Formats: sequence, C-alpha cells, structure tokens
Amino acid sequence: MVNIAVLGYGTVGSGVVEVIRTNPESINKKAGDEIHVKYVLDLRDFPGDPVQEILVHDFDVILNDPEVKIVVEVMGGVEPAYTFVKKCLLAGKSVCTSNKELVAKHGPELLKIARENNINFLFEASVGGGIPIIRPLNSSLTADEILEITGILNGTTNFILTKMAQEGWEFDAALKKAQELGYAERNPEADVEGYDACRKIAILSSLAFGDHVDFEEIYTEGISKITAKDIAYAKEMNYAVKLLASSKREDEQYYAMVAPFLVPPTHPLYAVNDVFNAIFVKGNVLGDVMFYGSGAGKLPTASAVVSDVVDATKHLHCNIMSFWSSRKLGLTKVDKAVRRFFVRVPDGTDAKAVFGDIDEVRVDAIGGEFGFITQPMSEEAFREKCEKIQILSSIRLL
Ligand code: HSE
Repeated sequence: MVNIAVLGYGTVGSGVVEVIRTNPESINKKAGDEIHVKYVLDLRDFPGDPVQEILVHDFDVILNDPEVKIVVEVMGGVEPAYTFVKKCLLAGKSVCTSNKELVAKHGPELLKIARENNINFLFEASVGGGIPIIRPLNSSLTADEILEITGILNGTTNFILTKMAQEGWEFDAALKKAQELGYAERNPEADVEGYDACRKIAILSSLAFGDHVDFEEIYTEGISKITAKDIAYAKEMNYAVKLLASSKREDEQYYAMVAPFLVPPTHPLYAVNDVFNAIFVKGNVLGDVMFYGSGAGKLPTASAVVSDVVDATKHLHCNIMSFWSSRKLGLTKVDKAVRRFFVRVPDGTDAKAVFGDIDEVRVDAIGGEFGFITQPMSEEAFREKCEKIQILSSIRLL
C-alpha cells in the first residue's frame, strides 16, 4: 500500500479524493500498488463529508509521518505551497501538483531537489487541465527539436470568448458562469489578464526548450479590452477571437507572448471552444501535433493529478528525468515579430496614408467607424503607425 496526503480540499483536492474513490481498482492496477489517501490537509472542517475522518489541520502531521510517500499539493498560490512542497521533497516524499504559479516560479529548484533525493516532482495538471501535455513533452516528443508551441491554455477566457461570440452573452455573465463551474482562479484577474496562460506557456516552453523561461519576461495581454464590437468584426471576417499563448524558436532566437488573436477557420485552434484547451506543437521532424481536451474544472484537473500519483507510485525510488534546467533562457523582444493586424478606426480616418495597402471591412450594424487588416509588419512598426492616427482597437492575426 502507498499512503498519500492531499494538501487542500478545494475544487481540485476534493476532485482528487473523488477520482481515487471512483476508480480504485483500475488506478491501483495501473499503479501496481494500492493507493490510500491517509490525510487531507485543510484549515476548514467538512462536517458530514467522510473526508472529515482523515482531515488534519497541521501540516507537520503529514511531514513527520514516514508512511506518507506521496504528497498531492492542490492548494494553489506560491505560499505556503512552496514551503510545504520543498519540505516534503527534502523529507523524501514525491510531490504531485496542479499549481502552475508554484511550478512556473520554482520549477527548476524543486525538480533539482527531487532529482537529488531520487524521488519525483510531477505537475501534469499545471497546464491544460486534464490534457496530457507535460508527460508527452518530457517523455514522448524526445526525437524532435520543438520549434513552436501555441495554445489555448486558459479555460475561463476561452469559455468567455466562446459565449460572447456564439450566445451573445455579456463578459460579466460569462465570467460568473465560469466561476460557478469552478474554472476560474480565486482572483479571476489572473485568467482575464492572461497571467494564468503566461505561467502555463512559461512551463511548456521551459520543458520544450530545456532552459528556464521566466514568466515575468513574457509579453502578456489579456482579453479585458475585447469588446462586443471586436467580436462582431471577427464574425464578419469569419475569424474567432482566441487568447493564445505562444512560444517559438527561430534560428537561435526564442519568442514568447500571450495575447488575443484573430484565428482563421483553417487553423486547428479555431474550433476549440468553451472550456476546452488545445496545445499545438511543431517539431522539426514530427511536424504538427495537437493536444485537445478539458482545460479546467474539478474532475479533468483531478484526473491529471491522479495520473501523476500513479506515475509517482510506479517510480517511488527512481527519478523520472526532466529536461528543464535552471539556466535562464533569454527571450527576444516581441517587437521584432512580424504579422498582420486588425484595426478599428473612426470614419474619415485616412488609414491608407499611414498603413499603405489595407483590406477594409465594415459591419452593417456598427456605424461611425470601419475596420481594416494591415499588410505584414513588425510589432514595432505597427505601434509607430498607430501613434499617427486615432485607433479604437486592434487585434493581432495568427
Ligand atoms: N483558471 C484556470 C483556467 C484553471 O481557466 O484555465 C485551470 O488551470
């Protein structure tokens, strides 16, 4: 029997206990041992819930119990999660976490401690909810140099943008529903302003490129400036507005950014709707591959956490090598990236005088303004041109 402890009985923590109780036979068979939840740590009590019998309020009970071999950290946030996880690893306990803030900030250090102690620090649920992407990047796509990762990595914003486009919902109503469904972060600003997607692309890029990508150096824009009018233009042009997190390697230059993009119907990310996430990966020999599935929510995320518990059980005294080193990867400024842009301007604007050749677009129901798509140009050149006229909004094209 392998005893585990779960730190945090919120949405994901209760999901982990539920998944283990739902599929015990198949999980134990795949793990090659019986997985037993010995403790759940939470500050709160849960009267009437069977978890109350194994609930503890003191982390040291778990830390000091040599029978606990695997700790699941699903508290979220950097502290006290970082302190608890580090202590567990130093005490020889493997850790499985869904905590992207923790992994993005302290991943290399925690991986190193796990390596030195011949145990594991696993974080499949930190990116893409229930989608297997960490393990494939670490263990499957090993024949390739990864050239690009572009993903819809935040379920809440994808849900909001989908509902605004397809159902005509207001932004606030869609966000409220995402919160009720357990998709959103405690502070939904992290979703809406792109910070959550930023941490996730930092984790994926660090794994793909082998060196540490600092999330604080990634250019990040969220969806809070996207309006119903922007969505109406996108529909008119048959594009979908998606919050994309992307990193690319071109020669020895590395770019990473998070921002809303107009995605054409020919791209596989166009059809990724609601809370679904998708991660498009380009390898130099494999070509394109895409991972798709439920990107947030209690059970999909818990499924990914439990898959790590199974892996940790199978490798109790054997470290699963990770390619993520603590050496920092220098990112090239996105200013140099070249792409087309969609722009909205008031009627009467001489857009051609500033932008040259443009494709104009009008939406019947929206008066007093028009939109246009530019020719390809660098981010820097685009910004300089925007300073010469009044623009109502702009979105990048994928
Ligand atoms: N708030 C996150 C999302 C949860 O909406 O994707 C999953 O990481």
